[in-house]
Amino acid sequence: MEIQISAGKLETAKCPALALLLPQEASNALAKNVYSALIARVYRQKDFAGKLEETVWLYPPEGAERLLLVGLGEWSNKIKETDARQNFQNAIGHAVQAARKLAIEELSISLEGPFVEKFGYRLTAQYVAEALCLANYRFLKYKSTVPEKEKPLQKATLLFGDERQAAEIKEGLRIGQIIGAWTCFARDLQNTPSNDLPPARLAEIAAEQAAALKIACTVHDEKSIRELGMGALLGVGQGSVNPPRFVVLEYKPHNQSRAENSPLLLVGKGITFDTGGISIKPADNMDLMKYDMSGAAVVLATIAALAQLQVPLHVIGLMPMAENMPGGSAQRPGDIVRTCNGKTIEVADTDAEGRLILADALAYAHRYKPKAVIDLATLTGAIYTALGETAAGLFSNDAGLTTRLKKSAERTGERVWELPLFPEFFEYMKSDVADIRNIASKPSGGGASKGAAFLATFAEGYKWAHLDIAAMAHPREDKPLVPKGGSGYGVRLLLQYCRDLGE
Ligand code: BES
Ligand code: ZN
Ligand code: ZN
Repeated sequence: MEIQISAGKLETAKCPALALLLPQEASNALAKNVYSALIARVYRQKDFAGKLEETVWLYPPEGAERLLLVGLGEWSNKIKETDARQNFQNAIGHAVQAARKLAIEELSISLEGPFVEKFGYRLTAQYVAEALCLANYRFLKYKSTVPEKEKPLQKATLLFGDERQAAEIKEGLRIGQIIGAWTCFARDLQNTPSNDLPPARLAEIAAEQAAALKIACTVHDEKSIRELGMGALLGVGQGSVNPPRFVVLEYKPHNQSRAENSPLLLVGKGITFDTGGISIKPADNMDLMKYDMSGAAVVLATIAALAQLQVPLHVIGLMPMAENMPGGSAQRPGDIVRTCNGKTIEVADTDAEGRLILADALAYAHRYKPKAVIDLATLTGAIYTALGETAAGLFSNDAGLTTRLKKSAERTGERVWELPLFPEFFEYMKSDVADIRNIASKPSGGGASKGAAFLATFAEGYKWAHLDIAAMAHPREDKPLVPKGGSGYGVRLLLQYCRDLGE
């Protein structure tokens, strides 16, 4: 979608559709303009009250061809920054959906309103651009024909009064578009079916993007993975005709003046399809296991966005990729594999494969002496039971890292919720025959924490956080900014975290 800006009075805006975002208190409504009388009437007749999720179309006698009133909900000076941002961005999302229902191709949006007092022009423009990109997203690549009403908006124009705000608005727009576009890039990867996205192809896409953005990229193939000693990653991939890959991305800002050079590491689970392997999954919903590479997609998109934004932070991405298939050469329950730090793992269940490939990546991470490591993984079904589609599970061995991640989550609305790593969870992962088991020996619940405890044993020696995104990666219901399918959950959260850290 093309987004442009335009300074001038609202009444002169001759456009197919103009969206105005209005709060619940009619008295706070827009400053006097050519539409005020009409708007006052709509409030008076109670056809529209400015509530969240409310939209109404009007056909004014002059100015825009159509006017779209969009509810902002209750809005006072006391509204929390985070609530304000979410309500505002959701309202933009509702505006996009309303316009698309009428197959409108071009939408103008007024940047004047109570929100601009809250955020300033730069952030307002950023939030609008971000929300426009996110709400307008659909995965249509495999559709031969697209019905008129499902077509995305082609163009948006941000209207504002004073030419002097143009520079700030342009800057916000640029940032918002980068964040939105890379989130949608992650969604495209997530939504791509596994037959078109085996590990080798995912790695190739990472390399292509890295080359375009001048990010260093190393793709380890099967032979090279063997040389690195990553027996757990090899074991998971060995049942498939599509061999595994291990991708390392390194983004270093141009003028990194800081003496402190230790990088932040982002690690993403890249299972391009998870059948469960020999411990095979039931057929119901198995198709959703194409999303099991969401962690890797989010890490790739985040690092690409960091490079494009030139965030002053040294960041390395590790993406272990494999297809977990049953087959004549697949690993068996009971097999013992050795990770690249020499630890042995009893593979009691071949469906707990995410933690196996992450074990190798987390062990590999030590060589960078990282300032922190954050992994993202669609790791457990148990996280659905714990948190539903409301938040990612957050597990960490460091209180400071936890606090910062919670703050970034709160700011972006990509929620996290901290869950425990009690000593018992480590106990349960002990093996009789190897250093550790990949599933607990006691079926006593707490599956998400057990998986995290397994990972924690490979993340000893640096600050580490694990985000279990299994329930957030592909929501089953449409939300204003997140249509069902791949969500790109984590890109905005990690970007916020990195941008705050880089400052
Ligand atoms: N990829 C799955 C986790 C998952 C389940 C993601 C449902 C999204 C929706 C993971 O590899 C897995 O199979 N985990 C097992 C672990 C178990 C064998 C200990 C699970 O959660 O059932
Ligand atoms: Zn699995
Ligand atoms: Zn999996």
